[in-house]
Amino acid sequence: MKRFCLLTAAFCVVLVATLAVAAAAAPQGKLEIFSWWAGDEGPALEALIALYEAKYPEVTVINATVTGGAGVHAKAVLKTRMLGGDPPDSFQVHAGQELIGTWVVAQRMEDLTWLFQEEGWFEVFPEDLLALISTDEGIWSVPVNIHRSNVMYYIPENLKKWGVEPPKTWDEFLAIAPSLQEQGVIPLSLGENWTAIHLWESVALSYLGPDKYDDLWEGKLSWTSPEVVGVWELFGRILEYTNPDAPSLSWQQATDMVVAGQAAFNIMGDWASGYMSVTLGVKPEEGYGWAPSPGTEGVFMALSDSFGLPVGCPNRENTIAWLKTIGSKEGQDTFNPLKGSISPRIDSDLSKYDVYLQSAARDYQSNRIVGSLAHGTVANERFMNDFATVMDIFLANKDPQAAAYAAQAVAIQSGLVK
Ligand code: GAL
Repeated sequence: MKRFCLLTAAFCVVLVATLAVAAAAAPQGKLEIFSWWAGDEGPALEALIALYEAKYPEVTVINATVTGGAGVHAKAVLKTRMLGGDPPDSFQVHAGQELIGTWVVAQRMEDLTWLFQEEGWFEVFPEDLLALISTDEGIWSVPVNIHRSNVMYYIPENLKKWGVEPPKTWDEFLAIAPSLQEQGVIPLSLGENWTAIHLWESVALSYLGPDKYDDLWEGKLSWTSPEVVGVWELFGRILEYTNPDAPSLSWQQATDMVVAGQAAFNIMGDWASGYMSVTLGVKPEEGYGWAPSPGTEGVFMALSDSFGLPVGCPNRENTIAWLKTIGSKEGQDTFNPLKGSISPRIDSDLSKYDVYLQSAARDYQSNRIVGSLAHGTVANERFMNDFATVMDIFLANKDPQAAAYAAQAVAIQSGLVK
């Protein structure tokens, strides 16, 4: 009897201790997530946060957003916070040079190799993507999606009415553009500065082809070469068929012009597919049509949003729980169908995705992959910021030669060209 009581007491002590450890380990307190997914860019992130909150009810999530497509404003605020020693618990950052050439070189991120091992992520994330978030010293973020940059959107019914087909090349576009103009239609809608850079990368990919496009980012093709001057020339001709109020429009407003029948085409990343189907209720195939941007068939220009663990973030354990959630199959298949992106995980459940995203997933498997400039894959922040100035000057003076020389200087200063 005495022995039984002792055993029971010992069992109780062990049980209480285990429960205490479990309670201490359960994430609680706060978690601040920083991104530019605000307003009508928000539903996918909100769904991901709801999933996190269901898993970790003791944590209060602060969804800190700074509006502005492509993070143009958020990235500036982030820089002030990081340099001021006030990092958020985790922040949105593009896989590739935006992460590696900016926050990793500045030693502001924690290595997550152990997390990838623990979660079995080496088996589910594609090697190419792992390479974008890694250096020899570690793995620096968790990718939540893959977006495609080189997509052209249109409304099939409108094109029929205007008597045009989706152009397969820029020459075809330039051939049909005057007839659209004569009918009072803007051939190609455009928004603020970064959306011009977004268009530029598609034009560059088409004009240079994927090998030379890659050469640019590897410093093997000079920015002053006749080919790159040719990209600026073509870009200038295309701009003649865009709306004059572009600098004052957001990417959503440029998409709205196509949906409203004011413009025939828009080139945007596939977050526009999420915006059309989730926010505007315009669905793929029935409502909108899409194609690779002219001259880029067979090439998938990719970018990936990711989140990392900043050194010195206030709520480290809660952030690790966040990273586990966003890297999980459930997290990714909750977020991406609403975002208008695909999951890079090879076990993603495609039945949860719409017909556009299913086609993107197929192309991601079979196409040649290149990286986006406008969304941080191929160039660091220094290059991006200065390239935005080069673009502003080009939009004002349309001088291809001057733009090529200015871009070459920026490439040298940012370390892109050694
Ligand atoms: C991209 C980002 C997308 C989307 C887009 C428009 O840079 O990767 O997820 O938010 O900007 O803001």
